[in-house]
Amino acid sequence: MPTLTIDGIQVTVEPGTTLIEAAKQVGKSVPHFCYHKKLSIAGNCRMCLVEVEKMNKPVVSCQVTAAEGMVVKTDSEKVKNLRKNVLEFILINHPIDCPVCDQAGECKLQEYYMDHSIADSQMTEAKVHKPKRVDLGPLVVLDDERCVLCSRCIRFCDEITKTGELCFVNRGDHQTLTTFPGMKLDNLYSLNTVDICPVGALTNKDFRFACRVWFLKETPSICTGCATGCNITINHYDDKIYRYLPRENEAVNQCWLCDEGRLSYKFVNDSSRLLRPKAKTNGQASFVAPTVAMEVLVSQVEKTKPQDIVLVGSALESNENNLALKKLADLLGVTHLYYSARIVPNPSHDDFLIKADKNPNRAGVEKLGFKPLLGAAPIHSKVCIILGGLSEAEQKALQPKASGHWVMLASNEGPDTQAADLIFPTATFAEQEGTFTNFQGRVQPFAKAFEPKGDTRPASQWIEELAVRLGFCHCEASQLLRSGSG
Ligand code: SF4
Ligand code: SF4
Ligand code: FES
Repeated sequence: MPTLTIDGIQVTVEPGTTLIEAAKQVGKSVPHFCYHKKLSIAGNCRMCLVEVEKMNKPVVSCQVTAAEGMVVKTDSEKVKNLRKNVLEFILINHPIDCPVCDQAGECKLQEYYMDHSIADSQMTEAKVHKPKRVDLGPLVVLDDERCVLCSRCIRFCDEITKTGELCFVNRGDHQTLTTFPGMKLDNLYSLNTVDICPVGALTNKDFRFACRVWFLKETPSICTGCATGCNITINHYDDKIYRYLPRENEAVNQCWLCDEGRLSYKFVNDSSRLLRPKAKTNGQASFVAPTVAMEVLVSQVEKTKPQDIVLVGSALESNENNLALKKLADLLGVTHLYYSARIVPNPSHDDFLIKADKNPNRAGVEKLGFKPLLGAAPIHSKVCIILGGLSEAEQKALQPKASGHWVMLASNEGPDTQAADLIFPTATFAEQEGTFTNFQGRVQPFAKAFEPKGDTRPASQWIEELAVRLGFCHCEASQLLRSGSG
């Protein structure tokens, strides 16, 4: 393993490590546009130049590998001057439209200019103009004037999705990014190109102009789109989710997300969110106070034998909420435990990230002992407490319910909640902390992004309150929550 010195710090690295990665290991970040650790090396932007003793020319640190005894300088006066010149060159035809650019605030060109350049352009010629607002595909828009021709997006489509939609055409200052004739940037992972574009050339149609990035707060979380459980950062502002970004986890999603999962946040912001409890009287549902809803539930459970009660967990809900339901079953002596799951017709799936199972926590709910509702023998009950939602087929599995009382703990109104006699509004995963167990059995935590609104609260809290109101001592009931929050 070679040992080298970078900015006076000695480091030993794995054979084959590039200088840019070796520099990272001693805490030195070398500016770069075209380098991306998951893509092949293009070496075309020249932003990563560093000095190496005994080499008469500066070297591209993304391409040159570390060798025994090398002495590398990443921030000498010579290197700083080179960066300044590279930036001036890149900016010759750049429109400098940062005030109206969606990438402003998270743009590498803007950042490097402030850190390494701050020089007026010496160009007196008119700038070369290129295509603006190019509709590359269903989710991505291109501004060719902002493109620094790093080719990351092209390499992503060639090497990761292997769909090869993108290419450069023309030469010199007329070189532009485009799609091959007759093709659109339309693959299952297309929005990753926006993430890896170092500038504001590629923008996400779903997010562009929705919010300035400096307003966004970041919360680490897990995508609920399928059983993979990709690690995400929720970007939110004023209790609203604006986008998901991939959070690196080499063992789960590396640094990518699929488009379907990335856009699956919308139910959290949706106008169908339930904010107050609802109860049905003579077939008519109306809003009621939480105490009133709880009194109705308590009286229903009190007059029902455990064998006539069914508890339905959810493969969409956290381990903690399902565990609270399981503990309630243990306190009451209920043994009918089932779970609902999201079933979609013709689900997308591949051998990369996307799973046909569109539930983030099937492994978790099954581990707690819940059985799938679908495929179970017809279930008769007098009281049925349902966590999350129910598909049409699952509703049928719970029939006949003529004499039964359906209680739902749900976050959004839907056809299933229409059938409920009593509804308690629950927090989504973004409004509480918890864990999901992905298809690999990996238990992954997620954090609370913002507070639940209205009377909404985590399902485990409603379940704990029910246990207390049924006369179980507070410590017994609070175990429902405590056991769930670990
Ligand atoms: S659009 Fe972005 S990622 Fe693609 S080549 Fe241009 S700067 Fe690079
Ligand atoms: S692969 Fe699954 S978990 Fe990952 S982003 Fe897509 S839907 Fe979400
Ligand atoms: S990052 Fe090394 S040449 Fe572009």
